[in-house]
Amino acid sequence: MTATRVLLTDAVHRLEAAGVASPEYDARELLAHVLGTTRAGLVLVEDVGDGHAEQFAELLARRAAREPLQHLTGTAAFRHVELAVGPGVFVPRPETELLAGWGVDRAREVAVSGRTPVVVDLCTGSGAMALSLATEVPAAEVHAVELDEAAHSWAARNLEGSGVDLRHGDMAEAFHDLDGTVDVVVCNPPYIPLEAFESVAAEARDHDPSLALWSGEDGLDAMRVLERVARRLLRPGGVVGAEHADVQGESAPAVFAESGRWSDVRDNRDLAGRPRYVTARLAR
Ligand SMILES: C[S@@+](CC[C@H](N)C(=O)[O-])C[C@H]1O[C@@H](n2cnc3c(N)ncnc32)[C@H](O)[C@@H]1O
Repeated sequence: MTATRVLLTDAVHRLEAAGVASPEYDARELLAHVLGTTRAGLVLVEDVGDGHAEQFAELLARRAAREPLQHLTGTAAFRHVELAVGPGVFVPRPETELLAGWGVDRAREVAVSGRTPVVVDLCTGSGAMALSLATEVPAAEVHAVELDEAAHSWAARNLEGSGVDLRHGDMAEAFHDLDGTVDVVVCNPPYIPLEAFESVAAEARDHDPSLALWSGEDGLDAMRVLERVARRLLRPGGVVGAEHADVQGESAPAVFAESGRWSDVRDNRDLAGRPRYVTARLAR
């Protein structure tokens, strides 16, 4: 038996030394996972048995080697849903919850007007935004597409029973059957410039699939494809929202402004005040 307090203090030091960004949170989350409880539930646990302590030490070593926390617990929380995640799929990030929330609000506006909102999530990854939209706007008809085979399998698992129409393929040629009928397009595309390799955290660089991260010299190759696809899919007056890197607060909106087909092109900030996603409306 080891005192929980001692185990956690050692764990936090170890993760700190390994350069993990949130050592306290991660240590608690991993111990709670091993014990089958929650982080809050740990206050009720005074001692940890040897078997559990061993399992915890193994997970800690993997986290110190910068495996993503969510790969170790097997789940990622996103808005009101939980996604199964692991090797082969991009771990959904908290900042993307804002874009999903924007999509939920736009879809609800359509539902209030008496129509069935038609929503498309391009580059769905684990299915995080599609599942949120289907859960939070039950009246919506939600479609999602993913190119990577492994990621598509994770999405299929997460979206099973949700009613989301999930397809496997390239967004560039996706959903021709929906052309001109969609109300809301959301997308968190790959957007990291190739030259930014060194600045990306080890967890993402070594464990998120490369197709989920990199997007050409300026990081906007996928954004340019997305602009064309959204233009094809949306009905006049329909809206698109797309996440981008914080250094793309001007260049991402410019992709939409330059085509001359959009109104209300604006950039939106995240809770930390950083430029995070561009939104635009297809001109009528
Ligand atoms: C940054 S991840 C975002 C995943 C998910 N939407 C999220 O927010 O967690 C980008 C995703 O786009 C997928 N992807 C990249 N290029 C694509 C394309 N041309 N068509 C469809 N999916 C693509 C990648 O495989 C990856 O799963």
